[in-house]
Amino acid sequence: MRLQQKRNLSDSSLNATSHTYTRNEVDMMQPTATNHTFAIGAELTVNRLGYGAMRLTGQPGNFGPFPHWEDGKALLQRAVELGVQFIDSARAYGPEWADKLIANALHPYADQLVIATKGGVDKRAPDQIIVDGRPQTLAAQIDAALQNLKLEQLPLFQLHRVDPAVAIEESVGAIDAARQAGKVRFIGLSNVDREQLDRALSVAPIASVQNRFNQAEAGDSDLVDYTNSRGIAFIPYGPLGAHPMRQGATLPAQESLAWLLKRSPNVIVIPGTTSVTHLEENMEAWSHV
Ligand SMILES: NC(=O)c1ccc[n+]([C@@H]2O[C@H](COP(=O)([O-])OP(=O)(O)OC[C@H]3O[C@@H](n4cnc5c(N)ncnc54)[C@H](OP(=O)(O)O)[C@@H]3O)[C@@H](O)[C@H]2O)c1
Repeated sequence: MRLQQKRNLSDSSLNATSHTYTRNEVDMMQPTATNHTFAIGAELTVNRLGYGAMRLTGQPGNFGPFPHWEDGKALLQRAVELGVQFIDSARAYGPEWADKLIANALHPYADQLVIATKGGVDKRAPDQIIVDGRPQTLAAQIDAALQNLKLEQLPLFQLHRVDPAVAIEESVGAIDAARQAGKVRFIGLSNVDREQLDRALSVAPIASVQNRFNQAEAGDSDLVDYTNSRGIAFIPYGPLGAHPMRQGATLPAQESLAWLLKRSPNVIVIPGTTSVTHLEENMEAWSHV
């Protein structure tokens, strides 16, 4: 199964190349924003219309297990049926409960399915966010995620936030050690700026960046283009404008998702929902692109 393959990608194959391409070759390789797929790390090809699992937790505060566990499983199964190939999760969602629900609903995983989780942020209470990017913490959280998701290798492990007390090179270096040990296939970052991305790229290949970005909050526009130019996926969170700790979209769903999908060919959208009706509506977004 693709999720469990233990394959390491050399730095050069992801972010650099020894071959000089002609302008024509580059144009031919460049996907258009109407392309339905993006290849994470140039290898894991997924439908750019994905799903975000943060809301499949207890409320308020995305804390505790999702109270309607069986409905949550059915929703995840329906998402895959409708063509979702990329599911975004994180240790902090629950904590650990979103990863556990995903495994309970979808393991053994479909071949094309990529489950992305995160570490470096933890929770002990609904309103408490603990940022900890120390290497030993990240190593332990990677092991826990492997167990929770029932995987031998995490397809994409994202640093949830940069710990102000730990250099990003140190945190990313720890995830890269797990990558080299075969526990992580690709490394992603979340809540970073261009300078932090460049610092991370100086120590390891980076396959994705996940920041808040939508039609009403498009401050990271340059970063979308920069990541696109480097073959790095850009995963906008809050695509419907919802506040992370409160339920409810503030933007029209299909139009907002279509706007993001059109914005750049490296964008993978991850709308979050607990409603099958909303899920089905969101999965229609391609027809608005
Ligand atoms: N990296 C980070 O720091 C970070 C932070 C926040 C989120 N994220 C990720 O990004 C994902 C998406 O963000 P998000 O869930 O915060 O916000 P969002 O996708 O902008 O909006 C989700 C909210 O919109 C509602 N909704 C969804 N589809 C709808 C539709 N078709 N019509 C009307 N309402 C709809 C949902 O309520 P219903 O349940 O009622 O549908 C939910 O309350 C998360 O699930 C998570 O994976 C990452």
